[in-house]
Amino acid sequence: MTILGIESSCDETSAAVYNASGLLSNVVSTQAIHKKYGGVVPEFASRAHEQAIWPTVEQALSEAGMKKSDLQGVAVANGPGLMGALLVGLSFAKGFALSNKLPIIGVNHMQAHVYANFIEKKPEFPFLCLTVSGGHTQIEYIPEPFNHQILGKTRDDAAGEAFDKIGKIFGLPYPAGPVMDKLSANGDPRFHRFPRALMNEGFDFSFSGLKTSALYHLESVGNKDEQKAYLEKNLSHLCASVSDAITDALIRKTKMAIDETGVKTLLLAGGVSANSMLRAKSEKLAKENGLKLYVPRISFCTDNAAMIAVTGYMKAKRGLFDDMSLKAYARM
Ligand code: KG4
Ligand code: ZN
Repeated sequence: MTILGIESSCDETSAAVYNASGLLSNVVSTQAIHKKYGGVVPEFASRAHEQAIWPTVEQALSEAGMKKSDLQGVAVANGPGLMGALLVGLSFAKGFALSNKLPIIGVNHMQAHVYANFIEKKPEFPFLCLTVSGGHTQIEYIPEPFNHQILGKTRDDAAGEAFDKIGKIFGLPYPAGPVMDKLSANGDPRFHRFPRALMNEGFDFSFSGLKTSALYHLESVGNKDEQKAYLEKNLSHLCASVSDAITDALIRKTKMAIDETGVKTLLLAGGVSANSMLRAKSEKLAKENGLKLYVPRISFCTDNAAMIAVTGYMKAKRGLFDDMSLKAYARM
C-alpha cells in the first residue's frame, strides 16, 4: 500500500510518499513571505499553497520513483490549522483522489505530529506524548493507535508561540524559536529567573505570563536605547533563561503525567521538540525514570507531509478511510 501525504495547514506546503518499505520522499516548500510580517498571514498562506501544491506533489512522486497509478490512497491534513490553508490541501487531495480513483484519508495534523515518531521507528504502546508546536501544547496518553487522551494542554499561548512572541520582543525574526535555541547554547539559563506558571496545578500549561514578564523585564532596564544596549550585551543569556523557563514547565508536567500513568515510553512531537534544551531535559527525565524516549529527527518535528503520509498509512491499514464529504476543521 503506497500513500501520498499532503500537508497545508499553516505555512508549509508539503507532499510525501510512504509505503511498507518506509518513507520514499518528503518535499517541504516553506513560504518565505511571512518573514517580513513577523508571523503567518493567513490569506498569503492560502495563495502560496495554491501556487506550490502541484509542483510539490509532482516532485514528491518523482523523488519516490512513483507514478500516480502506483498509489493506493491520498492522506491529507484536514485540521486543525488555518481554514483557507487547509482548504487548498483538502480540495487538491479530493480532486487528485477523484481523478485517480483513490480513497481519501483525513488526518488530524496534531495526531500526525505524534506519529512522526513512527516514520523511522516503532514506539510501543501505551505511551505519553508531549506535543509542542506553534499552535498547540499538550500531554497525551495514547494506549493504542488513534486513541488520544489529552491529560493537559495550554490555557493560553502554545510553547512555540511563547518562543516566537518573546523572541519578537527581543527583536528576533519570525519564527524566533529556532533562533532562540541557537543563541541559548552560549547563554546562562540562570541569568534571570522567569516565572513558571501553574507548577502544582494539574497537567495544564500557561505561557502568557512568561511573555508579559519578559516584556516587563526588558522595560525595567530603562529607555529604548538602554534596552537595545542591554539586549546587545545579554541576548544569549536572556534566550537561555526563557528557554529554561519554558522547558522546565514542559518537563515538570510531563514528569507528573509519567507518575500518574506509569507509562514506560515517552514521545516528543511538534516543532518545539526540535529544541535542544527540551531534548536534553527529556533525555535526563527518561534516564531518571527508566523510560524509553522517542524524538523524531528535526526535519520531522516541524510541519511536513511525511508525518501525514505515515499516519494515513496507519489509518488505511485499519480501514479508516473517508469520502468526498471530508471537511476541514480550524479546530479539532
Ligand atoms: O509544529 P510546527 O512546525 O508548526 C505548528 O504546527 O505550529 O511548530 C512550529 C513552532 C514555531 O513556534 C517555532 O518557533 C517552533 O515550533 N520551533 C522551535 C524550534 N524549532 C521550531 N522552538 C524552539 N526551539 C526550536 N529549535
Ligand atoms: Zn504542526
